[in-house]
Amino acid sequence: MKSMIFLVLMAAGSVAVAQQRKTPIMGWSSWNTYRVNINDTLIRKQADALVRSGLKEVGYTYINIDDGFFGYRDAQGAMQAHPQRFPGGMKVVADYIHSLGLKAGIYSDAGAVTCGSIWDNDRNGIGAGLYGHEEQDAWQYFREWGYDFIKIDYCGAGQELDLDEQPRYTAIRKAIDKVEREDVEINICRWAFPGTWAKELAASWRISGDISDSWASVKHIVEKNLPLSAYCRDGHFNDMDMLEIGRSLTESEERVHFGLWCMMSSPLLVGCDMTTIPERSLALLKNRELIALNQDTLGLQAYPVQVLDGTYVLVKDIERRRTPVRAVALYNPTDTVRRISVPLAELELAGKARLRDLFAQEDLKAVEDSIVATVAPHDVVIYRVEAERRLEPTRYEAEWAYLPLFNDLGKRKKEIFYAVEGKASGGRVVRYAGGCRENAIVWNGVWSDKGGKYEMTVSYLPTENRGLEVVVNGASVQVPLSADSVVTLPVVLHPGNNTVEMTCRTQWAPDIDRFTLKRTGDE
Ligand code: GAL
Repeated sequence: MKSMIFLVLMAAGSVAVAQQRKTPIMGWSSWNTYRVNINDTLIRKQADALVRSGLKEVGYTYINIDDGFFGYRDAQGAMQAHPQRFPGGMKVVADYIHSLGLKAGIYSDAGAVTCGSIWDNDRNGIGAGLYGHEEQDAWQYFREWGYDFIKIDYCGAGQELDLDEQPRYTAIRKAIDKVEREDVEINICRWAFPGTWAKELAASWRISGDISDSWASVKHIVEKNLPLSAYCRDGHFNDMDMLEIGRSLTESEERVHFGLWCMMSSPLLVGCDMTTIPERSLALLKNRELIALNQDTLGLQAYPVQVLDGTYVLVKDIERRRTPVRAVALYNPTDTVRRISVPLAELELAGKARLRDLFAQEDLKAVEDSIVATVAPHDVVIYRVEAERRLEPTRYEAEWAYLPLFNDLGKRKKEIFYAVEGKASGGRVVRYAGGCRENAIVWNGVWSDKGGKYEMTVSYLPTENRGLEVVVNGASVQVPLSADSVVTLPVVLHPGNNTVEMTCRTQWAPDIDRFTLKRTGDE
């Protein structure tokens, strides 16, 4: 993972305070092409290819060994490498990777058995997971062998032992902490957004089942990640899974795959055979301007501002927050050509806007009023947009909000979630907020340029027996619901960021679509 160092120079005494903020990891992982059929020579060849191809130079620095290296536990319970696949053991492989100036990643399961033992008939994976060997394995993997990253899967802990995710991953995290290597990075692989607790334990977490080398899979993962932008923050990332670029996707599908993984700040782990990667795919993976979106130090995930007729417009701040510079993607997952048009105002931008096409890496003619592009089927265009002014936002969708009690594990009925709803403005509502104060919908960055009085209009789906409490910067008001699905209330905002929450202590809140703001005067 690349870390950015910010130096804050304090004038008096010139004390330099270094603060680290992490960006998504970039590198290669063995799983997509080789599954459990890996070995020492193969890993070294891929590491060599990563350097030779120039991928290292643009930021791909991890070589991650996925499932398949397990041999057996010795009499003391210590994990041994697969004797045929890794005859020299796992330390020599990590040493080799490090000798190239790269970092080394490894894999395990939160339970006793690995996924490979269940799905790939890898008998050595039985008993190879971390369960009952947490501290022993952590010491061995990170101290003795010297690995820098671990992906922790859940087949053994889930299918076999039916453990609860949060306490299980917490126990593993504690064992890893004892090794005292603060640079070790953890990935939670539970194939769904695991819950907001994950940010205390891991740098990234998978949000979907396994990716496959197919358009349907890429499209599905993007769709799953659309409402999750609020969880990508403070150096923690939604993991959209390893890349299938350089395999069988078409040129435009590869653009979507790479472009949106960059817009959404997912880890970027190449998954093909790098010794035979097609030139076209390699050039895409090395596009520095797209990589810059992924490694942007704000660490934000683009969110959908316009969902229309099967097409999407996604946007995020880059470089600095709330300036007239933003990254914008016009995404067409449909099977026909579409003309996608988005008003600049929807992007909170105004004035003349200069566009730079980040795939072609060329500047386009400046536009006013709106951005329009004809986008081929299964394709995307991505622009760096530099407008003259940044507007105060007037709309906040429920699918942009943070839900403190949200998870996507599907274990309990009637848990708060982002429900697909054709009638909603962005295609989704938040359902099952309320029941207690904490089960809220939270918008953390409700922005006001100058502060003042506003009229807030909340839109929701018509439902009976619901209550609504709106909390602005901690001050709560009970809002009477009406039959026509909108309710308007006066609110006061501070200059800068405000927090708006919607909940209900005594019953469910209605399904919330969004709220809008209209400034009515000074405070
Ligand atoms: C899956 C995981 C894959 C891969 C595989 C190994 O559960 O999602 O990315 O690691 O296990 O068996």
